[in-house]
Amino acid sequence: MLKPKPSIETIQPYQGGKPIEEVQRELGITDIIKLASNENPLGPSPLAVQAIAESATQVHLYPDGNAYYLKRDLAQHLGISPESLILGNGSNDVLQLVAEAYLAPDDEVIYAAGAFVVYNLVTKLCSATAVVVPMVNDTHDLSAMAAAITDKTKIIFIANPNNPTGTMVTADETAAFMKQVPEDMLVVFDEAYYEYVARSDYPQTLPYVLEGRNFIITRTFSKIYGLAGLRIGYGIAPPPLVETLNRVRQPFNCSLVGQAAARAALMDTDHVKESQKSNTVGKAFLYKAFDDMGLCYIQTEGNFIMLHVPQSGADITDALLKQGVIVRPMVGYGYPNAVRVTIGTQQENERFITALRAVSCQLSSVS
Ligand SMILES: Cc1ncc(COP(=O)(O)O)c(C=O)c1O
Repeated sequence: MLKPKPSIETIQPYQGGKPIEEVQRELGITDIIKLASNENPLGPSPLAVQAIAESATQVHLYPDGNAYYLKRDLAQHLGISPESLILGNGSNDVLQLVAEAYLAPDDEVIYAAGAFVVYNLVTKLCSATAVVVPMVNDTHDLSAMAAAITDKTKIIFIANPNNPTGTMVTADETAAFMKQVPEDMLVVFDEAYYEYVARSDYPQTLPYVLEGRNFIITRTFSKIYGLAGLRIGYGIAPPPLVETLNRVRQPFNCSLVGQAAARAALMDTDHVKESQKSNTVGKAFLYKAFDDMGLCYIQTEGNFIMLHVPQSGADITDALLKQGVIVRPMVGYGYPNAVRVTIGTQQENERFITALRAVSCQLSSVS
C-alpha cells in the first residue's frame, strides 16, 4: 500500500470520549452517562433548538460560506469587526487552518507537555518540529516556553485554561510572555473554556489582536454554548491573518444549521449564566466528594476536573464504564494514574461519585 508522508506515520489517531451508543452496544447497558468530553451537561439552549428546527427545512441549500450573520452577531458580542473573525468546523478546524497556513517542514512549534493534544496533531500533519516544554504544577510554564523560542519558531500554542489539567496562566504571566515573543511569531491562545473562567487574574487577550500582533484567539460553541455536535468554532485575529486563513479554509466549513444554532445560542445569555452556575455548584460538590475520599485533584478553571487515582486511570475508567459512567483515562497525556471527568448535572455528579466509590473499593480489594 502507498505510504503517507513520514510525519503522518507518527500520528496517533485522536481518541475522543467513548460515545454512549458504543458503550451500549459493547456492554449491553442502557442507563449511561457521559462525562468524558467536556460537553455542557445542561444541553443546548432552547433557543438554539428552536433555530435548529427552523433551519431544518433549508438544508437542501449550501450554507453561507462567509457566515455573514453569525460573524456580524459575534463581532457585536465581542466588540470587534467581522473582518477579525474566522469560523471553523469546531475550533479544532481553526487550529488546523493555522498550522496549514503557516507551517513549513523545518519550522518549530512550541507547546506544553500535557497541553491539548490537537497541537501535536496539527504540527505533525504539517511535518513541522514539535518543541514540547514541561509544565510546572500542571500549568503552562510561560517563562520556559519563551526560553524555548529559536529563530525557527513559527507558532506557540497555549491552551488557557488547558485541557486536560484545567489550569490557567494569569494576566501578568501572559503580559511578561508577550514582551519576550518576537513580533514575527504567531501566538495562539486557545480559549475553548473562556466562558467558564471566573478568576479576575485571567488574561483578556483581545488587545493583542487589536494591536495587530501576530496573535489568534480560538473559541468555540462546543462547550458552554452546548453545540458540540454541530461543530462551530471561531478564531479572532487581525484581518490580514484572517485573510490568509480564509485561503486555506474549505468554502462551506460551517453548516447552515450550525450557523443558525450558534446565533441563537449567543443570544441566550440566561442559558450561559445557568451553565456557569451549574458548573460552579458541581465543581464544589465534586471537590468535597474527592476530599472526603482522600483523592488528589487539580483545581480547575474549566468544566472538567483531572483527578489523580491510586490505581491505573485506564482500569478505573474501564470499571466505571461497566457502571455506565464514561470518563477519560489520561495515560495519553502522560498521566497514567489519572482520569478526567466532566462536571455534570447534580444527578450525574452523584451517580459518578457513587460509582467511583464502588470501583475504588473493588480495585483496591483486587490489588
Ligand atoms: C482546549 C481545547 N481546545 C479546543 C477544543 C476543540 O473543541 P471544538 O473543536 O469542539 O471547538 C477542545 C475540545 O475539547 C479543547 O479542550
